[in-house]
Amino acid sequence: MEDQAEKLREIMRQKKLNMAASGMAGGHADSKTAAADGHAGGKRTRIITVTSGKGGVGKTNLSVNMALAFARLGKKVVVMDADLGLANVNVMFNMIPKYNLYHVIKKQKTIREILAETEYGISIVAGASGFSQIANMGEQERHEFINELDTLSFADIIIIDTSAGVSSNVLDFIAAADDAVIITTPEPTAITDAYGIIKIIAMEYDTINIGLKLVVNRARSAAEAKNVADRMINIAGHFLNLKIDYLGFIYDDLAVANAVRQQKPFVIFEPKCKASVSIQHLVERINKNKPIESDGIGAIFRKLFTRT
Ligand SMILES: Nc1ncnc2c1ncn2[C@@H]1O[C@H](COP(=O)(O)OP(=O)(O)OP(=O)(O)O)[C@@H](O)[C@H]1O
Ligand SMILES: [Mg+2]
Repeated sequence: MEDQAEKLREIMRQKKLNMAASGMAGGHADSKTAAADGHAGGKRTRIITVTSGKGGVGKTNLSVNMALAFARLGKKVVVMDADLGLANVNVMFNMIPKYNLYHVIKKQKTIREILAETEYGISIVAGASGFSQIANMGEQERHEFINELDTLSFADIIIIDTSAGVSSNVLDFIAAADDAVIITTPEPTAITDAYGIIKIIAMEYDTINIGLKLVVNRARSAAEAKNVADRMINIAGHFLNLKIDYLGFIYDDLAVANAVRQQKPFVIFEPKCKASVSIQHLVERINKNKPIESDGIGAIFRKLFTRT
C-alpha cells in the first residue's frame, strides 16, 4: 500500500514536470483539446487544493466561493470534490449529480461526461466514495485516471476540495497542486491539526513546486487572524524550514450558515457580506501571485535548497 502511494506520487511529480515543461496542464496528450478550448499559447491550468487538519473548518465553503469569485474575474473554473466522506460540493449548489468520480475510476464514464454545470457559470466534479479506490488501483489504472484528469485542462483553475485529516490518500493530489491552501480557524484544536497536516506535507511531499498558503477562517478581526497566521508560519519556518504564505482571512459571518442552509454559496446569497468581501480579497491575492513554476527554475532551486 505504502509502495503504491509512493508510485502515485511519482506519477504526479512526473506529470507536474511535464506540465511545467509543456506550459500547460494538459501536457502533450491534451494539446488538441486545450487549443480548441482556447488554451493555446502556453496558458495553463492552475490547480489549487484546499485542505485542513480538523473537519468542519470551512474547506467546502472556501472552495466553492473562491471558485465563484474567480469566475467573476472571467476564469473558467472547475471545483472537484475529493472528499472521501460526505460529498458536499454538490449540496452547496442544491444539485444531485447522477454520476461521480467513482464512475470515472470504474471507467463507466469520462470526467467530461460527469462534469456538471452549476447555474452560476462554474462546473463541478462530484466526489462520493470514489477516491478511496485510488490507493487500490494498479499502476496502469492510475496512469489512465490521471490522464483522464488531464481532460479538465480547458479550465483556467481547478479547485480541489479535499477531506480533512492526514490519513486520506487524497493528499496525493497536493503533489500535483500549484497552490496548497491550508485552512484553519482560530480555535486551538484547529490550529494544532492544521500544523499536523503541514508537517505531513513537509515530510511526505516534494514541496519544491507547491505554494503552501494559509487561510484563517471564522476570524473576528484581521488582527486575530494575523496573530494565528504569524504563529503558524513562524513555527513552520523554524521547525520545518518550510515557507508558508499568509493568503488572508475570512470573517466569522452568520451569512455563511444562512447561505449553507439555503444551499446557495454565500457570495451569491449575500455578495456584500463580510465573508464575501473576504473571499474577494483572497482571490485577488492568489490572482496576483502566479504559480511557482512560472517564476522559472530559479525559484524551484531556491525552495529546494532552503529545505532541510
Ligand atoms: N466564515 C464563516 N462564518 C461563519 N460560519 C462558518 C464560516 N465558515 C464556515 N462556517 C460554518 O461551518 C460549517 C462547515 O463549513 P464547511 O462545510 O465549509 O467545512 P468543511 O471544512 O468543508 O467541513 P468537512 O470537513 O465536513 O468537509 C458551515 O456550514 C458553516 O455553518
Ligand atoms: Mg467539506
